[in-house]
Amino acid sequence: MLKLVDSHAHLDFPQFDADRDAVLGRAREAGVVQVVNPGADLKSSRRAVALAERHAEIFAAVGVHPHDALTLTDETLSTLAQLADSPYVVAIGEIGLDYYRDLSPREQQRWAFIQQLALARSLELPVIVHVRDAHEDAMRILEREATGMRGVLHCFSGDLDVARRAIALGWYISVAGPLTYPNAKRLRGVVSQLPLERLLVETDCPYLSPQPRRGKRNEPAHVRWVAEQLAETLGVPLDRVAEITSGNTRELFSLSSFSEEASEANRSGSRVS
Ligand code: NI
Repeated sequence: MLKLVDSHAHLDFPQFDADRDAVLGRAREAGVVQVVNPGADLKSSRRAVALAERHAEIFAAVGVHPHDALTLTDETLSTLAQLADSPYVVAIGEIGLDYYRDLSPREQQRWAFIQQLALARSLELPVIVHVRDAHEDAMRILEREATGMRGVLHCFSGDLDVARRAIALGWYISVAGPLTYPNAKRLRGVVSQLPLERLLVETDCPYLSPQPRRGKRNEPAHVRWVAEQLAETLGVPLDRVAEITSGNTRELFSLSSFSEEASEANRSGSRVS
């Protein structure tokens, strides 16, 4: 059976409160063996860690999203560092720049991004980066502040030059539901020129459902449609896309110290009693 890893899902969000176990059950049936759940602010970072402690297939990242950059203080940073003490925290994220919605002043977004990159460096953790309409500033910051660090540009929306600059840093590019949208020809054109060895798949659920379910709540089981589109875009068989992207995700987040088999055996069970 096909095994997939959803490299970016917000299962801690309230949209899943009513049926989270059913969502995890459908993910399992769809072959999704592991899920990385980033935080968006301090509250959701805490919830992400709690979920990862309860479910063997879930791993957490902690961080403050650019939308909430105004909430980042020195105290927040030290709380994030404490949360990252959990063995199930595998990255800092999601962090970055969002000039599309501009929900925090850009200067504050850049400051919060740089502070959290430094936190990741000090904790020796990889980074999950969100960039929207801010690729030039984001790449300039990464090229200056993140040398030697590892990470992923999640839900990629940049051009080929940005992708190549990220790959030159040794980073990964993650694709989500928008790759399946009929009007995403430009994105598919960019992705078609990238090496599978540098690509991850994700849902970013509850947002960005792939085309067959566009507009409805997204969930990790739907990462299958992203992988199918990626296979078509690259002209590579689906089983190879599943194998390589899962391996890439497991490598980036050092998930191999947690065996898939152990999590399969322990799926419905809890990590901590
Ligand atoms: Ni996200």
